[in-house]
Amino acid sequence: MAEQRKIIIDTDPGQDDAAAIMLAFGSHEELEVLGITTVAGNVPLSLTSRNARIICELCERTDVKVFAGADRPIARALVTAEHVHGKTGLDGPTLPEPTMPLQTQHAVDFIIETLRREPDGAVTLCTLGPLTNIALAFQKAPDIIPRIRELVMMGGGFFEGGNITPAAEFNIYVDPEAADIVVRSGVPVVMMPLDVTHQLLTRKDRVKRMADIGTAPARAMVEMLEFFERFDIEKYGSDGGPLHDPTTVAYLLKPELFKGRNCNVEIEVKSELTVGMTVVDWWHVTDRKRNATVMRHVDADGFFDLLVERFARI
Ligand code: BDR
Ligand code: CA
Repeated sequence: MAEQRKIIIDTDPGQDDAAAIMLAFGSHEELEVLGITTVAGNVPLSLTSRNARIICELCERTDVKVFAGADRPIARALVTAEHVHGKTGLDGPTLPEPTMPLQTQHAVDFIIETLRREPDGAVTLCTLGPLTNIALAFQKAPDIIPRIRELVMMGGGFFEGGNITPAAEFNIYVDPEAADIVVRSGVPVVMMPLDVTHQLLTRKDRVKRMADIGTAPARAMVEMLEFFERFDIEKYGSDGGPLHDPTTVAYLLKPELFKGRNCNVEIEVKSELTVGMTVVDWWHVTDRKRNATVMRHVDADGFFDLLVERFARI
């Protein structure tokens, strides 16, 4: 068996966050989840911390520790997305309240301690929400930055525009200062923007393949997706909702599913109109540092094949 890749999942569950975590759990031969860190985003921190533990229990992975992190962005008031994810953030299935404990250590300290303990270049950060915890860890312990193998984030949008304002994608919009710190830090970034995730619609035939798996986690996932996609179907008449966050884990498992370009990305933090915009120098019209691999295309059928295959292994 090839060596497992060590990852920390930083998340604000969210039904699509749950799908990403489940994809990682279904891929334990390739991925070792060192811990799950939660952040305020889709819903407040108390709920994202609850939801992360619900997912662990649903998948019988109570061995994975969950650490609560920042309850608000670095410099702004929290903006949440109950209009998409429902009151709990994980609306859809009826699942029991979690009984596994939340760790007492702060997520930021867990991230720092883990990166200092594990071998240099061994740990990948997989971020599914606002980048507050990561930026706070970088500020508190800059020595961890060169130790990170890669940071794979769901965030941003360029050709597609934004989904919370015309210019900004939700994760970046909620904490643009944090995103700015991360993209300037020198850490190797792989960015999964809306340009990719909007190609991954939870069409009926795809959801049916998940339902056919028949296990409790797969059934719960189907109910989550049926709730989650309602927003896009009602608002845009689209063929299902876009499955954002699992792109990060899918990239770790099958990078060949994605195509993108290494380019400069900067975050707008000042303009009222475009705050949170990810300004991507796709055409290399500046000589600014190429600090991120920005994905633009995805093999959607290959992505859903992977999801179904791995969900069936949980
Ligand atoms: C991102 O925002 C959240 O609502 C989703 O979980 C995803 O991380 C998409 O813009
Ligand atoms: Ca998320």
